[in-house]
Amino acid sequence: MRITIIGTGYVGLVTGTCFAHMGNQVCCIDIDQEKINALSRGTLPIHEPGLQELLDNNLEEGRLTFTTSLPEGIDTSEFIFIAVGTPMGEDGSADLKHVLAVAEEIGQAIKGYKIVVTKSTVPVGTAEKVRIIIQKAIDARGLEIEFDVASNPEFLKEGKAVSDFLNPDRIVIGTDSEKAAQRLQLMYDPFCRTDQSRILLMDIPSAEMTKYAANAMLATRISFMNEIAALCEATGADVDQVRIGIGSDDRIGRRFLFPGVGYGGSCFPKDVQSLIRTAHRKGVSLRVLSAVEEVNRAQKELLVSKMRVYYDAHENGLAGKTIALWGLSFKPETDDVRESPAAVIIQDLLKADVAVRAYDPVAESAFQRQYDLPIEYSPDMYQCLDGAHGLVLVTEWHHFRRPNFDRILQALVRPIIFDGRNQYNPAQMRSRGFIYHSIGRPYIVE
Ligand SMILES: NC(=O)c1ccc[n+]([C@@H]2O[C@H](COP(=O)([O-])OP(=O)(O)OC[C@H]3O[C@@H](n4cnc5c(N)ncnc54)[C@H](O)[C@@H]3O)[C@@H](O)[C@H]2O)c1
Repeated sequence: MRITIIGTGYVGLVTGTCFAHMGNQVCCIDIDQEKINALSRGTLPIHEPGLQELLDNNLEEGRLTFTTSLPEGIDTSEFIFIAVGTPMGEDGSADLKHVLAVAEEIGQAIKGYKIVVTKSTVPVGTAEKVRIIIQKAIDARGLEIEFDVASNPEFLKEGKAVSDFLNPDRIVIGTDSEKAAQRLQLMYDPFCRTDQSRILLMDIPSAEMTKYAANAMLATRISFMNEIAALCEATGADVDQVRIGIGSDDRIGRRFLFPGVGYGGSCFPKDVQSLIRTAHRKGVSLRVLSAVEEVNRAQKELLVSKMRVYYDAHENGLAGKTIALWGLSFKPETDDVRESPAAVIIQDLLKADVAVRAYDPVAESAFQRQYDLPIEYSPDMYQCLDGAHGLVLVTEWHHFRRPNFDRILQALVRPIIFDGRNQYNPAQMRSRGFIYHSIGRPYIVE
């Protein structure tokens, strides 16, 4: 099958590469010439495990091409996926300018039947807007060209995007066209050979809403657990034990119950906001989600508040200290730093007159590009600690899980760790000689 993907970011690039991996002929389009040049040479602009191998292989086999020309890119394809960004607008709603601009371009360039699919996360009604824009552009050209629209939101997780795309939990297809439904089902068949029931056909508004509702539910679990963690701390319970206790209930499940420094990334914050804005416009009040967002905002400030209390009481305050920080990306296995809790933590530390030295295995340059902050970057996780008055762990990269604790003790001026991801055992940390603070677990003094 011939497929075009417009927007070659985290979603578009993984989608295009995985479709090519299944034997399809795929053309990826982006307005970023540098990105397209790099990809044509086989250079990935993002960090995503497993993607390089697939890119190399499909470029070599000639199934994957890259261009900045939309008319050229859509000419021979039957499917056109729109996978451009939908960032948060000024009022919190999804900014659709890229999606709608692409729809206009499609309308100008389309010559024959196409199935135009919105893969970007977009509010209910967007596929309809896309349909109207394309139709108007065709009408203005005085032509009659048939096309269908469909909504096919993406559920991949950065860091596991390739395996998620190749083995999806479900594929949501929203369309009002029998033909588009059949063709899309056929295209996705190879991804669910063991269980075709994972392809869920529905109407377009429900498909669009499913994506937001899924992200909102996941964000809710995180904020809920962060509040339970605060209550655990106040009452002497251990959130880790509580998490296991509630997670063994089938109705709840074990995943997504980890408290931490708040959710970030390019999806949850903007999608929760967007849903709240949509509800507001429709006169519906989403009180739970407003609280989810509020809790998350406060959670990003929690670690520095705890540090302030500790350093004021025991170390003559935070001002003038140097703090080492591990982890800049919003989660492990990605270089995505959008809405990263690390940015809030660093800004709060800088405001408290703290010098920050940061280490991240892959996200340093993305972080430097996105945030212009006067901090030092370290190329090595242990070097980062040299002469620091404490360590803050923000992102749970795997190699932070079992570090060389003796090296940490040697490097830090004061053996203080604020762990925003509950990576270590509090009692063991105490016996190793650390002053160790985490989230929702008892602080062990002796
Ligand atoms: N990143 C994720 O984990 C994830 C997961 C599921 C869904 N989504 C959704 O998918 C969409 C894309 O997200 P992303 O993270 O891949 O974004 P991204 O910012 O990484 O990539 C978007 C790409 O679109 C390109 N673009 C913008 N305007 C264009 C135009 N007119 N023509 C061609 N290309 C254009 C940009 O240059 C960029 O390369 C968003 O709606 C997002 O909410 C993201």
